[in-house]
Amino acid sequence: MASKTINILVKIWRQNDTTAEGAFEEYPLRDISTDMSFLEMMDVLNEWLTRKGSEPIAFDSDCREGICGMCGVVVNGTAHGPQKETTLCQLHMRQFHDGDTIVIEPFRSRGFPVVKDLIVDRSALDRIIQAGGYISVNTGSPRDANTILVPQHVAETAMDAASCIGCGACAAACPNGTPMLFLGAKVSHLALLPQGKLEAKKRAIEMVLQMDRDGFGNCSNERECENVCPKGIKISNIARLNREFLKASFTLAE
Ligand code: FES
Repeated sequence: MASKTINILVKIWRQNDTTAEGAFEEYPLRDISTDMSFLEMMDVLNEWLTRKGSEPIAFDSDCREGICGMCGVVVNGTAHGPQKETTLCQLHMRQFHDGDTIVIEPFRSRGFPVVKDLIVDRSALDRIIQAGGYISVNTGSPRDANTILVPQHVAETAMDAASCIGCGACAAACPNGTPMLFLGAKVSHLALLPQGKLEAKKRAIEMVLQMDRDGFGNCSNERECENVCPKGIKISNIARLNREFLKASFTLAE
């Protein structure tokens, strides 16, 4: 199919640093190929800004293959943009039309301070993982997989949860600004498998406490997170997190 070009207007949030006041700035873009990725469109805009001596727009990306979780902004009110189960870096300009206005702003949540323009500090998610999202028990040398039997449906549920890339879109979409879909995925994929069960209680408690310390809100079943998750993580993982947390709260002292 022949590629098309479109003319668009992008309105982008510009903010110098965490404490500065931000505002939207408008940039008209002509002849944008619909074969470009969204981030390539941003690259074109930045080249143009650099050529005319203006400061380019700061935004995050790394793999540009939908696996690292670095990219992510809010496009026309939706984290990662209009295409379901797609990271921003995998979004293409064919999703937009000639004459469109595209509003681009950073992920907004109390736990994600804006660093500059579209970049937010998501290190709170790293602190939540450091609080318990790992296995520290010594499991010895690798055993034959057949000696640790895991029912297929359990393995598949754990793998689905493990596909969370930690982008933070769940917190950006939630009216309470909570990353509980992220926590639910991380707690689930470890708690479901035998290697993760030993530390399951401590993990659930510590990760939730760290989430609270970083100022995030709590889940009230809005399901916005599930709608925007680029990896299709289900909120049943939040239900599992809640069960793990309750179980741990009742029995940790035993
Ligand atoms: S840049 Fe890695 S997931 Fe988008």
